[in-house]
Amino acid sequence: MGWPYRKLVRPVLFKQDAERAHNFALTSLALASRDEFICNAIGKLFSAPELPVEVFGLKFPNPLGLAAGMDKHAVAVPAWEKLGFGFSELGGVTWHAQPGNPAPRMFRAVADEAIVNRMGFNNPGAEVLAQQLSEWKNLGRWPGHPVGINLGKSKITPLEKAAADYANSFRALRELADFFVVNVSSPNTPNLRQLQDKSALDEIFAAIQALNQNQKPILVKVAPDLSFEALDEILELVAPRSIAGIVATNTTIVRPQSNDSAIQKIYSETGGLSGKPLRQRSTEIIRHLHKQTKGRVPIIGVGGIFDADDAWEKITAGASLLQIYTSLVYEGPGITREIVAGLVQRLEITGMKHLRDAVGSAN
Ligand SMILES: Cc1cc2nc3c(=O)[nH]c(=O)nc-3n(C[C@H](O)[C@H](O)[C@H](O)COP(=O)(O)O)c2cc1C
Repeated sequence: MGWPYRKLVRPVLFKQDAERAHNFALTSLALASRDEFICNAIGKLFSAPELPVEVFGLKFPNPLGLAAGMDKHAVAVPAWEKLGFGFSELGGVTWHAQPGNPAPRMFRAVADEAIVNRMGFNNPGAEVLAQQLSEWKNLGRWPGHPVGINLGKSKITPLEKAAADYANSFRALRELADFFVVNVSSPNTPNLRQLQDKSALDEIFAAIQALNQNQKPILVKVAPDLSFEALDEILELVAPRSIAGIVATNTTIVRPQSNDSAIQKIYSETGGLSGKPLRQRSTEIIRHLHKQTKGRVPIIGVGGIFDADDAWEKITAGASLLQIYTSLVYEGPGITREIVAGLVQRLEITGMKHLRDAVGSAN
């Protein structure tokens, strides 16, 4: 699908505003998700090879997942597995329903294969999301792969009350997913990233774990713009708060240099940057986290993965699982099979038996 997507589908999608194209693709997948026959046909076209991994007590058919933000309303839950993903992270969801920032709020920097977004957690709220997820379960359309939920803070909730806001969402959703990600790293909710501060994060994890009693893995998602010292402070919470893993990373507020005026215009937009320009910084963060924890804390590596080389780079830097968002937009749905097949091939070439043998092997 790589070539037909790039030459035929992408030009049509990219003629439209980025959010409109996103909504069109999601609506198509939502419709397909309701039809078992179509879903199975998608599975035949796009399924990825098996590359099973076990991380934080969950079994994944392959290590490549869908990153948060793509399916905030959980409208295409069955489709992600059929598109070859080894897991999916739904949301971000907040306790209160909210419209997000005014449009336009998603921009493509095509020459750099990047996206700038300031969506601002547009989502239907945790209780409506819970109903949607229950519906998929009742319809018997729940996927066979692990499903995670990305939890954000409602914009109207002040920072001092953030812990209760996250805990409320968790309470509403805890029976409906396999793992949860505490997102304190989106640049698009005012002051949210202050919650990456150790004491604030400690409060959030205390409130969630009081409800969870270590039943479900709870991870934290970090910004690529944190210093290594700030990351080390977060790591101090891993043992006391039983943090199951770290998702590294969210989008960046940093912009690369560009001489291209069209790109400069996009980069002048407020928001988080994802895609190719994020790759290197995200890998640096993964490498640091893996070294500091001596590989004892599972890392989900995300940021600028476009092919099997990028995926292998993240794994050998210390990621046990991977996620993509922006490359799905630029490369189309064939990318999952391509990346997973490439990983299988690399394992064969290096003579490693399991993917876990490769995790952090370049450090
Ligand atoms: C339009 C858009 C919306 C996003 N929404 C969320 C979100 O709600 N929660 C979150 O943790 N990350 C969100 N992200 C960040 C992605 O999950 C991912 O961390 C980031 O895009 C880097 O991966 P990539 O380079 O493969 O896109 C969003 C990204 C984009 C492009």
